[in-house]
Amino acid sequence: MKIATSFLSCKNIEGAIQKLSATDADFIHVDFIDGKLYKGRCIPFRKLKKIFKYTRKRLDVHLMVKKPKKYIKKFADLNAANITFHIETEKNIEKNLELIRSFGIRAGLSISPDTEPSRLRPYLDKIDLILIMSVMPGAGGQAFMEETIPKIKTISEMARKVNPNIKICVDGGINEDVAKKLKSIDMMVVGSYITNQKNFQEAIDVLRDAIQ
Ligand code: DX5
Ligand code: ZN
Repeated sequence: MKIATSFLSCKNIEGAIQKLSATDADFIHVDFIDGKLYKGRCIPFRKLKKIFKYTRKRLDVHLMVKKPKKYIKKFADLNAANITFHIETEKNIEKNLELIRSFGIRAGLSISPDTEPSRLRPYLDKIDLILIMSVMPGAGGQAFMEETIPKIKTISEMARKVNPNIKICVDGGINEDVAKKLKSIDMMVVGSYITNQKNFQEAIDVLRDAIQ
């Protein structure tokens, strides 16, 4: 299983990114919020752009924005491996997925805890990954919503039937105990569990042990 690390709840973003870059995490997860689709901490793009000069890690971009098209090209230029936006955006979903793929980047759809999984169905053969939110979008450091466990199962089964190569990713509130319940997914996104500790690599090692 891959691990992507989020720095959304960190005060010193630049320092956190440098420390995360020194770990063996697979990706740095970038949460980008415009305040229109969801409320939360909006880190301006121009700030993120500067910071990413300091990491060689590939990015797993999570766009929590109303109009993904506005930001897809910008993040495509920043060494993104994956770009995911929300199914809750409703408009131009197929076009935006195509745009992401036109840059040779894996395209994903994210789904909030209160959205019906069947909404993903029309797009399952057009996406490379699904990012299932296990907290409400907007902030790091929230508690994992246990009710997303059966939802993860439902979505995985539905998606893998149509598209066996699809990657199932879960984002929010993951710690050592939660990780043990997520052994069958492909990637976990973890923020505060790692960044609240002094030694980031040790925290990642604990998570990797938990999913063995
Ligand atoms: C929530 C974000 C998550 C979050 C993860 O809106 O999408 O990526 O920052 O952080 P933790 O692990 O602290 O929930
Ligand atoms: Zn995220």
